[in-house]
Amino acid sequence: MLASHSKTLLFRLPKLECSTRSLSQLSLRQRQSAARWNIPRARNIHSSPCLRHGNITRPEPGTGIKIHFKDSKGTLLKTIEANEGDDLLSIAHEHDIDLEGACEGSVACSTCHVILPPEYYDILPEPDDDENDMLDMAFALTDTSRLGCQVKLTRELDGMTATLPSATRNMFVDGHKPSH
Ligand code: FES
Repeated sequence: MLASHSKTLLFRLPKLECSTRSLSQLSLRQRQSAARWNIPRARNIHSSPCLRHGNITRPEPGTGIKIHFKDSKGTLLKTIEANEGDDLLSIAHEHDIDLEGACEGSVACSTCHVILPPEYYDILPEPDDDENDMLDMAFALTDTSRLGCQVKLTRELDGMTATLPSATRNMFVDGHKPSH
């Protein structure tokens, strides 16, 4: 009776089959011994699918937030499309725009300095104290200067132009310039 009941369980719960079988294969003596020595029961090992890392999803053409990058003379370097939440420095690097970003976004340099149009500058949240401290050291600072790594894109910024200054001041001793 018990044996037939176990078979039904095995049939209904195929995932438990492995551990149930391994227990049932032990003799009574082995099971008593295992219980006495507190040996844990056999367990199934579960695995989950690997998460994908480093895959940046680009928006479909015509659906992203359009950002224009210009050099200090006003020449258009590139127009790119980005997603909400992207920051200006990351997308500049992704599209080979020469925005340094020596500290790679840790607000410890001013080499990601960009100049924004006033109407877009006003949309953004105020820069925090750390950003202001770094901006104070930026070359050719303007009233609408920001650190590119701190500018997170939103839909309202669609169509914005980010102008690169004519020079940057790299305070890193080794003049580190990340290559992305
Ligand atoms: S990359 Fe250094 S502050 Fe933005």
